[in-house]
Amino acid sequence: MSVDLGGTNFRVCSVHLNGDSTFNLTYNKVAIPRELMLAKTSKELFGFLAKQIELFLKEHHEEHFEAHQRRRKSAKPGEDYETEDIFQLGFTFSFPVQQLGINKGNLIRWTKGFDIPDAIGKDVCALLQQEIDLLHLPVKVAALVNDTVGTLMARSYAAPGKTSTLIGAIFGTGTNGAYVEKITNLQKPVDGQYDKSTGEMVINSEWGSFDNQLNVLPNTPYDKKLDEDSVNPGIQIFEKRVSGMFLGEITRLAVLDLYEKPSLSLFKDVSSSTNNGKAATRVGEGSGLFQQWGLDSSLMSIAAADTTPELSTLRKELESQLQIRSATVEEARAFKDISYAVGRRSARLSAVALGSIVMQSGRLKETKGEPVDIGADGSLVEHYPSFRDMIYEAFNKIDGIGAEGTERIRIGIAKDGSGVGAALIALVAANMEKRGTLDELAALKNKATQKLAGAIPSVGESTTLV
Ligand code: GLC
Repeated sequence: MSVDLGGTNFRVCSVHLNGDSTFNLTYNKVAIPRELMLAKTSKELFGFLAKQIELFLKEHHEEHFEAHQRRRKSAKPGEDYETEDIFQLGFTFSFPVQQLGINKGNLIRWTKGFDIPDAIGKDVCALLQQEIDLLHLPVKVAALVNDTVGTLMARSYAAPGKTSTLIGAIFGTGTNGAYVEKITNLQKPVDGQYDKSTGEMVINSEWGSFDNQLNVLPNTPYDKKLDEDSVNPGIQIFEKRVSGMFLGEITRLAVLDLYEKPSLSLFKDVSSSTNNGKAATRVGEGSGLFQQWGLDSSLMSIAAADTTPELSTLRKELESQLQIRSATVEEARAFKDISYAVGRRSARLSAVALGSIVMQSGRLKETKGEPVDIGADGSLVEHYPSFRDMIYEAFNKIDGIGAEGTERIRIGIAKDGSGVGAALIALVAANMEKRGTLDELAALKNKATQKLAGAIPSVGESTTLV
């Protein structure tokens, strides 16, 4: 099983792996209520999450759920009903954590509009487990997974051919990438015990926070304003130029700026003779154009997809979504161009993040001819027209990749990747635990055999066994 706390939705899934790179997935999805993103205590959020798990189990795994409840109620003291038939849960928690073990990690900071100070520094798996236990659910939080890591796992399972996937990336509400790095390249000390036998480790880059100092990133007045008015000014600066949560807002600020310029007449009625030479507005007072977050990024996808000469779909949407009445074709085109510029900049910056990892991996040089595989998921890469093509176009321009390298880079959509990936990781974690217990038992047996062997008298001797 897995749950996925992303930026916008909370999903609960159960996954059946068919073992042939296909899987069946059952899931429920709910929008995370805004007040929970800014709740006073973490209990409010995690209590809500546990409740959703309970609803999911009742709906899709009723028999299992009821059987567990019956066993719990009829259990005699000391009887171990709890470990029977437990769902191993992969917890996709898509925020920066200091990971301390397979199912242990402390929250470093919130991103994507969440702000619950009380949770910072706490182990998010323990917070979820506490709430699950309060509801007596047959669920164990077995693995903590970032969505990018889940996507990497899912793509590795589903990717065509034998090539191992290098990167799992999210271009959705937020943006981030995880990739496979050689342990010898790690420069940062890694705490705790981990398996070094493969010589590799998955790194969650948290590239959303790249260049918070603004040494190289573009910084328009609209970027500045967006950051100043956000819940976390000064951080996630790369993400604020790339991901779906922010693109609509950048576009809104740019369009609003043009709207407010007296020298322009964007969305104003210039031909009216009754307004003393001042242009009358055709934008409703309650329009999202005047409100923070009032322009949904999905409108940008509509703008990009409308290639009709009259831009009729876009003009209709401007009216229904933003109360912009009777927009002319020129005005709609201006909107489309601004929106395209914001979308294209996002894709080009995304190419920088992906391209730098591809180059760092050395795979373009080392594995001649083989594709360099990337799994990607998120609303932007899925729904924004040509987002992937714009990334490929930008790869072409990067020294060290060029046309030849671009040919070899393959970005595959790993739909629902993080849910499937987290379930895969939970499964691996559960197997590791089982193997660990078996190893321990084997070690104990060995020790006992040796002791016994030492204690058994040789022929002619005698001893007392205790
Ligand atoms: C934010 C989070 C990161 C996550 C990404 C995509 O950047 O900090 O952990 O992977 O959003 O959801």
